[in-house]
Amino acid sequence: MQQEVPMVTDQYSSVFHNLNGDKVRVGQETARQKLLALSRNMKGVLSLGRGDPDLPTPSHIVEAGCEALRTGKTHYTPWAGLPELRDSVAKKLRAENGIPVTLDNIIVTNGAQEAVYLTLQSLLNPGDEVIVPEPRYTPYDRAIELAGGRVVPVPMEISDRCLLDVSKVEEKLSERTKAIILINPNNPTGSLLPEEAVRSLCKLVVKHDLVLISDELYEHIVYDDKKLFSPASMPEMFDRTITINGFSKTYCMTGFRVGYVAGPRDYIDAILDMRYTLSISAATPNQWAAVAALEGSQQCVHDIREIFRKRRQLVHEVLSEHHIEIPEMDGTFYAFPRIPASSFASSLDFCERLLTDVNVLVFPGTDFGESGEGYVRVSYLLPQDQLMEALKRFALFVNGVR
Ligand SMILES: Cc1ncc(COP(=O)(O)O)c(C=O)c1O
Repeated sequence: MQQEVPMVTDQYSSVFHNLNGDKVRVGQETARQKLLALSRNMKGVLSLGRGDPDLPTPSHIVEAGCEALRTGKTHYTPWAGLPELRDSVAKKLRAENGIPVTLDNIIVTNGAQEAVYLTLQSLLNPGDEVIVPEPRYTPYDRAIELAGGRVVPVPMEISDRCLLDVSKVEEKLSERTKAIILINPNNPTGSLLPEEAVRSLCKLVVKHDLVLISDELYEHIVYDDKKLFSPASMPEMFDRTITINGFSKTYCMTGFRVGYVAGPRDYIDAILDMRYTLSISAATPNQWAAVAALEGSQQCVHDIREIFRKRRQLVHEVLSEHHIEIPEMDGTFYAFPRIPASSFASSLDFCERLLTDVNVLVFPGTDFGESGEGYVRVSYLLPQDQLMEALKRFALFVNGVR
């Protein structure tokens, strides 16, 4: 017998419909879950799958969290977050990113992930379309779908670089397009969209009266002399850009769950009410730890990046030596190598065989959208010696099946 769907309001009923229908893939095992389940029953797996930095959180940040606990900072903060943290974030955004904000433009969230959800819930109406360059960080899909929106992927060109062709974005615009998501540097490809390309994308956003969601979570994990360009620093973009960022990657603070959203007051005020409904505020001691992260010495950021830079060089050396094609790795701790697709039914099939044959875990490119077929995401979050071993196994496996 078919279950009756409770009717609440239009907005909420769309969520119930989603759960009963196929808009959100509830209950389906993802490729990632399948591989993780498989690896749990195996011994000695070298994981190049994780997205959680393996390095410890810098000690002064941990100590600030402990000190907050010891001194009774164990109650709610204002919904928008600790004023001290919002002020530090605003200072950072002005100084490093050129975004003219004050603490009133900032809401602290439980990780950037909650910022993604809150932003899309407050921005989208059912039926709105959101353009997402692909390969893409797919948790955005679920947040878009739960808000009643529709994901419109725009495949990037993957060759020696990952490039977003702005004319392809324009082709996908429709009357329902509400927003474009830009994750820069990109998870999973590790590519950084240069300033010029960001500016062209912004022209399109202005021309078509859209909103840009700029996810800058990996901004400090950028190598060589490259630097992220923040779209909200452009005067014509400020009123139409929502910037999402956090502490998870830059300061190895994934478990602290602190992120933030920054934008013009009307968007921020709309998010605030929903923010209260979801979890009132982020954990208070963790917000104090985040204050210490921003206000303390930034030497730790350089040190962490330097470790990732050396590993990235190793990835580049081993894969190039074995003639495995890999797009330029400008930032993050991910690489997106091409695999010999013709020898496998799919990139998931490749990952399963790699795992069972040589005990190395990577995730299939299709976990990041259809156009990721033929690629895998390799993260370099292992100590140098284990990374070397895992890369060698990966490369020998690829060459063995070519
Ligand atoms: C692009 C991107 N945005 C957001 C998130 C969520 O991060 P957080 O740990 O701050 O919630 C991630 C996590 O991997 C990510 O890669």
